[in-house]
Amino acid sequence: MKKVLVCPSILSANFACLMSEIERLEEAGADILHVDVMDGHFVPNISFGVPVLRSLSASCDMFMDVHLMATSPCRHVKSLVDAGASSITFHAECDDNISDCIDMLRKCGCRCGISIKPKTPVDAILPYLGLVDMVLVMTVEPGFAGQEFMPDMLDKIKQIRRLNSKIDLQADGGINPKNAKSVLDAGANLLVAGSAIFGEKDFKKAVDNLRFPGNYPA
Ligand code: DX5
Ligand code: ZN
Repeated sequence: MKKVLVCPSILSANFACLMSEIERLEEAGADILHVDVMDGHFVPNISFGVPVLRSLSASCDMFMDVHLMATSPCRHVKSLVDAGASSITFHAECDDNISDCIDMLRKCGCRCGISIKPKTPVDAILPYLGLVDMVLVMTVEPGFAGQEFMPDMLDKIKQIRRLNSKIDLQADGGINPKNAKSVLDAGANLLVAGSAIFGEKDFKKAVDNLRFPGNYPA
């Protein structure tokens, strides 16, 4: 069983005091910062990009896990890596050639993830499972925080874990202490959470309730 890593999505942070929010996350024991970069084309929303990532990585040592929701991810890879991305996850549904995306990330010395939206079957990423560090299964339609978790996605997580026992497997969208156990039991080892963390006053409690969902009162 791989170690469970909790990855707060800063999309739900208060951007007026982003750095102090991140310091509170570090103190709370959050493992990884999940940085949702959206291009307003691949998804119907624009979030933030290189300048924000650059400022954050200059001011904190946390692992920067960029979730790149962009139609043409390759063109953004170099600038995101230069800005401090530790890992970049692109979408299997993008317009770029998937092998090119993986090669480009490898050349930049960046960890590499591939993501599938809810309607995309696991078959779409089968040829790449041995080539990437992480698979991200979207458990909502990408684009916005605060949506409801889609339980049907648990089968996809199970399927991927059965195919590869070693790969990092991340779930993203609507994850909260009530569904976290089922997501971990299905085989995910990285949990992304926006609302379930930033919606709580006590970040440590929020992080612990995801990492140890068995302790959460039903
Ligand atoms: C959605 C993003 C998610 C989202 C998570 O497109 O990829 O990372 O911010 O937020 P919650 O946990 O609120 O669904
Ligand atoms: Zn995300």
